[in-house]
Amino acid sequence: MQDLDLLVNLYNLPNDEDPTKAMAEKGVFIRRAIAPDKTEILDFIRTEFSQGWADEAEKAIFNYPSSCYIAVMDHKVVGFACYDSTALGYYGPLGVAKSARKLGIGSALTTKCLLAMREKGYGYIIINAGPVDYYIKQLNAIVIGDHKGVYSNLICN
Ligand SMILES: CC(C)(COP(=O)(O)OP(=O)(O)OC[C@H]1O[C@@H](n2cnc3c(N)ncnc32)[C@H](O)[C@@H]1OP(=O)(O)O)[C@@H](O)C(=O)NCCC(=O)NCCS
Repeated sequence: MQDLDLLVNLYNLPNDEDPTKAMAEKGVFIRRAIAPDKTEILDFIRTEFSQGWADEAEKAIFNYPSSCYIAVMDHKVVGFACYDSTALGYYGPLGVAKSARKLGIGSALTTKCLLAMREKGYGYIIINAGPVDYYIKQLNAIVIGDHKGVYSNLICN
């Protein structure tokens, strides 16, 4: 399987303001996922997306600090995003419930993760996309190329 990888400069983000407060004012709470919420988060990801993404999120939740952020509305998970899961220096997967899209949740989760990655010491990060146009628009991402990558050797490929 071919992978399309994108490169993102963490020091040239179109928007690097922490979105936590603005989202909370809209009733969307963005925070790191923690172990006691694991089952609820993984059930959400399996139902809305895939077992593979749930597996990646599980890995991220058990990093220290957790490298999975979630969005919660009315006490329900409506989105998640991970970094440093399958490989170090990678952002993703990212997913927002169909019912909660176009409210800025995907962008807020992305900004939280990328700020955490910058804080950790990364200058550039990789995204295995996915919706390439979304990341070009949101992050000034640059397509590196279509080549073998960390997801090339999955059993199901
Ligand atoms: C991509 C995704 C996370 C966006 O979540 P969201 O909360 O709706 O995103 P936001 O509200 O922050 O941004 C929405 C904007 O992105 C645009 N957008 C969404 N998906 C897009 C895509 N595939 N290509 C281009 N633009 C896209 C919308 O048109 C919207 O633009 P607007 O603000 O000009 O109206 C969501 O659509 C999703 O979960 N998709 C399926 C999973 C997926 O592809 N994840 C990425 C895997 S790496």
